[in-house]
Amino acid sequence: MAVTIKSQREIDLMRESCKLLAKVHAELEQAIEPGISTLYIDQLGEKLIRGLGCIPNFLHYNGYPASICVSVNDEVVHGIPRAERILKEGDIVSLDCGLIYKGYHSDAARTHGVGRISPEAQKLIDETRNSFFEGIKKARAGNYLYEISNAIDGYISQFGYGIVEALVGHGIGTSLHEDPQIPNYRQRRRGPKLRSGMTLAIEPMINMGQSAVEWLDDDWTVVTVDGTLSAHYENTILVTDGEPEILTLI
Ligand code: MF3
Ligand code: CO
Repeated sequence: MAVTIKSQREIDLMRESCKLLAKVHAELEQAIEPGISTLYIDQLGEKLIRGLGCIPNFLHYNGYPASICVSVNDEVVHGIPRAERILKEGDIVSLDCGLIYKGYHSDAARTHGVGRISPEAQKLIDETRNSFFEGIKKARAGNYLYEISNAIDGYISQFGYGIVEALVGHGIGTSLHEDPQIPNYRQRRRGPKLRSGMTLAIEPMINMGQSAVEWLDDDWTVVTVDGTLSAHYENTILVTDGEPEILTLI
């Protein structure tokens, strides 16, 4: 499928969808504290999304059983919320969340510390976020897609972290996942040329150790093979003729 170019009307709807998602993320961040369960985060998130008149797009997506992905420590992405999974001081927790507003999808992820966390964990979170900002600098009309991938990889490589290769970012619009796929690691092929009106979910997933990941028996939860911590940072963005716009930040 070709990469879709959004009309002005669609861009306005994407903007609104993403702004509402940013509010949900801000509220979820406030709720993070030692002692809460990952299921509580999911229930709160679903309530917030529905309270805004929106639909949680992850719920039942390919059979995913919850509205929010809650991934703790060595869990990379797609952690399934559970009542028995209690956050404790020193954990890091990645919240991946999306919603549908008037048919338009938004998608964003953040990793938070629970209480006080180690400086090493905080650095992983910060540099994962920073790598997103390196990538988005290249998200300009006329550039090629691989410039985003190569900028993320070029930045992260200095820390000795592992870039997850098994999962990638994506176009987004009337579907959660549209073309193109957006790898976070170096590409030889330049991929499609970026054009004004493309909306993209750029989402580096970075491991403190090796890049290898595996799936747990629940068929969803992705974990690091070496057991090291992993962080995730994702925003839905708009390519314009000038500066790219980050739609899921308030
Ligand atoms: N946020 C994920 C992504 O970026 C989607 C989660 S898949 C789901 O692609 F099944 F958990 F919803
Ligand atoms: Co995504």
